Amino acid sequence: MAVLPIITLPDPVLRKISDPVESIDTAVVRLMDDMLETMYDAPGIGLAAIQVGVPKRIVVIDAADEGEPRQPLVMANPEIIAIGSTTRPYEEGCLSIPDVRVEIERPETVTVRYIDRLGKQQELAAGGLLATAIQHELDHLDGQLIIDFLSRLKRDIIIRKFKKMSR
Ligand code: NI
Repeated sequence: MAVLPIITLPDPVLRKISDPVESIDTAVVRLMDDMLETMYDAPGIGLAAIQVGVPKRIVVIDAADEGEPRQPLVMANPEIIAIGSTTRPYEEGCLSIPDVRVEIERPETVTVRYIDRLGKQQELAAGGLLATAIQHELDHLDGQLIIDFLSRLKRDIIIRKFKKMSR
């Protein structure tokens, strides 16, 4: 396994729409394992393949509490098939936008259908932090970032700051 470099703002790759995974072959499994290692190393609670430069619909998540045993989740082609009627605000961060937090109100519960690391279709009903993380990571697959929930003015200030830092 390997820790991969994480792409950060303002790299336009983050805006790409990722393609579906066609089969869970050895290269895809290796990518999934590298993504988990990269996420734990960062450390973060979620990572999408596009954040390591691969435009495939793969995300890894571990929303376990600190000090609890790891609960790695690996999802290929994830799709939200149901959302709850209540919402919950949460201050989200993103490994591709270091030191920025955005309060986002999202559905408190979601059900997601995906293909797991063994190529098997799964369904998971999630709530709380896990539900938030799933929605955040799925946004990445469509090129959407947490700063898109801000006003245009606030978003432009953040993008300008990152452009300056990347010079
Ligand atoms: Ni993110």
